[in-house]
Amino acid sequence: MYRIVTKQKLNPVIDLISIQAPALARKAKPGQFVVIRVDEVGERIPLTLADWDEKEGTVTLVAMQVGTSTYKLACLNVGDYILNLVGPLGLPSDIERFGNVVCVAGGVGAAPVFPIARALKQAGNRIISILGARNKDLLFWQERLQSVSDELIVTTDDGSYARKGVVTEPLKGVLERGARIDRVVAIGPAIMMKFCSSTTKPFGVPTFVSLNSIMVDGTGMCGCCRVSVGGVTKFACVDGPDFDGHEVDWDLLFKRQQIYLAEEKHSLELWKSCHCQSA
Ligand SMILES: Cc1cc2nc3c(=O)[nH]c(=O)nc-3n(C[C@H](O)[C@H](O)[C@H](O)COP(=O)(O)OP(=O)(O)OC[C@H]3O[C@@H](n4cnc5c(N)ncnc54)[C@H](O)[C@@H]3O)c2cc1C
Ligand code: FES
Repeated sequence: MYRIVTKQKLNPVIDLISIQAPALARKAKPGQFVVIRVDEVGERIPLTLADWDEKEGTVTLVAMQVGTSTYKLACLNVGDYILNLVGPLGLPSDIERFGNVVCVAGGVGAAPVFPIARALKQAGNRIISILGARNKDLLFWQERLQSVSDELIVTTDDGSYARKGVVTEPLKGVLERGARIDRVVAIGPAIMMKFCSSTTKPFGVPTFVSLNSIMVDGTGMCGCCRVSVGGVTKFACVDGPDFDGHEVDWDLLFKRQQIYLAEEKHSLELWKSCHCQSA
């Protein structure tokens, strides 16, 4: 059982929780994730390690409420327990001195991007971060990203804050400035990662995305997270989650993400009919 020691609402649909998990906090690396099960009838769901504190023995997760398990998670408070927490899982992100790196975060992607941008900054890179959300209310961690970036560009789709538009527009602008960009890291909804990859491709800039395929065991055994990268089948949980965005078969990813849509909808309706308030 893993005790929740901090809970913070980052915006109407995204919650931060820190959990007491000292062994995990000692081993965590940027880009890795955990698989959690909220309770004994819960599904196993993957969440990225958004931060960790070795001294305090805690790990921080940031989850967007999209279905039964993430709604359940949002109902928990400080002092409550999560039944299972497995990790750190997945290969850590590549952290080297690349030069000029653009880190693009879409929506809840700000959470996984932050530790990667921080580590890249510590490794001596110049970091340009681009943070986007649908509207002002959904933006979070602007200050955190600012603190590890040499430059931060913020966008909202509806123009309710900062620059109006989607993240690919400033990404293209940065690439067109002429200064060499050595690497792009893009994390957010799959569609956003796909378009970031197609934006960087003509410029030949290596682009890494974190694939959010459906996962079950998270250890390479079930095959559920199967993706195709460069025509080769990979398991996102053990071969990733970071992959070369120019080589990902995005259509296959989109198709596989939809497999359980009807069941997920039914499960959420059922859960909401029994528990309602804090979700
Ligand atoms: C490596 C990895 C890291 C992730 N990190 C984060 C994170 O830090 N914050 C965050 O908010 N979300 C993250 N996600 C997505 C998160 O796992 C899903 O939002 C969550 O599983 C939804 O579960 P649910 O029961 O609430 O919703 P459901 O109603 O079950 O599903 C809603 C949608 O979430 C996705 N999903 C459902 N089950 C899974 C599953 N077992 N594995 C992966 N995706 C699933 C599907 O696209 C589905 O259509 C990550 C996914 C992966 C693969
Ligand atoms: S989640 Fe089972 S193989 Fe990746």
